[in-house]
Amino acid sequence: MSEIRPIRWADGQLHLLDQTRLPAEETTVVVARYEEAVDAIREMRVRGAPAIGVTAAYAMAMAARRLADESRGQPGSQFMPLLEQAATRIKAARPTAVNLGWAVDRMLAVAASSGTPPEIAGRLLAEAEKIQTEDEAINRRMGEFGKDLMPDGGSVLTHCNTGALATSAFGTALGVIRAGWESGKRFDVFNTETRPWLQGARLTSWEFQKLGIPATLLVDSAAGMLMRQGRIGCVITGADRIAANGDTANKIGTYALAVLARENGIPFYVAAPTSTIDLGLPDGDGIEIEERAPEEVTRYGAVPTAPQGVAAVNPAFDVTPHRYITAIVTESGVASAPYAESLLLAVRSEK
Ligand code: MRU
Repeated sequence: MSEIRPIRWADGQLHLLDQTRLPAEETTVVVARYEEAVDAIREMRVRGAPAIGVTAAYAMAMAARRLADESRGQPGSQFMPLLEQAATRIKAARPTAVNLGWAVDRMLAVAASSGTPPEIAGRLLAEAEKIQTEDEAINRRMGEFGKDLMPDGGSVLTHCNTGALATSAFGTALGVIRAGWESGKRFDVFNTETRPWLQGARLTSWEFQKLGIPATLLVDSAAGMLMRQGRIGCVITGADRIAANGDTANKIGTYALAVLARENGIPFYVAAPTSTIDLGLPDGDGIEIEERAPEEVTRYGAVPTAPQGVAAVNPAFDVTPHRYITAIVTESGVASAPYAESLLLAVRSEK
């Protein structure tokens, strides 16, 4: 099987596998301007915290290249102030995943080095490529650490999509499941549908099929019943932002799964790179939760699924308090409570 790589830089443009079209169509959107990358993030053509970070890094490189072209030969260049304006716009594309702001800040730090605008633009492209390459390596390391948590003969439930599609390649929580499977362990895999965008049904099921890992799809609300029946042995999800104390923001529905797991005596794991850990936030109360359009709940594509004019609320993420989390897998190892200490150590060891 060839690896799924949703983000590709070629011919001076960003090629994104359009995740709004999967699994029906495998089409690519080609992005030449940073504003189009911002739109692609907002419209969920590319999604998942690490993938958003990588796309944001390329968006910064595209902004820098255009500004360098425009400022060529002109004294008193506005290059840096205009690049900072682009950075603010890119950061605002989606608020919850910290990887986006993390990647943009890393690019700004490179841009602050001395050099002409074209030199800086060249360095920014190299940095974006480095972030993408590093992401795959980090995910594979998480898989190595996390595979020991996977059962041999039991079962695992996952939520949303945390696979290659949500990253540069390999994935986070799905990568841990993959690493467990590829180590020779055999277990049942369940994945939720993940309303309203159906990242689980459309994307995770597609990835498991490509990987040759048998997986069973369930509606989100069936998870409690399956746990009570003893059919789920553990749960593993990704994360969009992890506060210093371990409180974890992830796809809406994660909190309910964690509480159900505790009620049923099932371990609940999170897998995320250290770039998802936000040590600036003491706990999850400070995490901004993206609210998306109510129409995503009241219709599916063009098809209404609720009466016209009905009110709907659509938080895209929720926060799981750290007390429900059995362990957090990062590229530096498996962290456990007290997370205020173990996550700090994990972040420091990757600096
Ligand atoms: O709204 P999405 O599809 O971007 O949400 C994605 C998730 O919540 C993932 O679980 C998270 O980003 C981790 S992805 C490796």
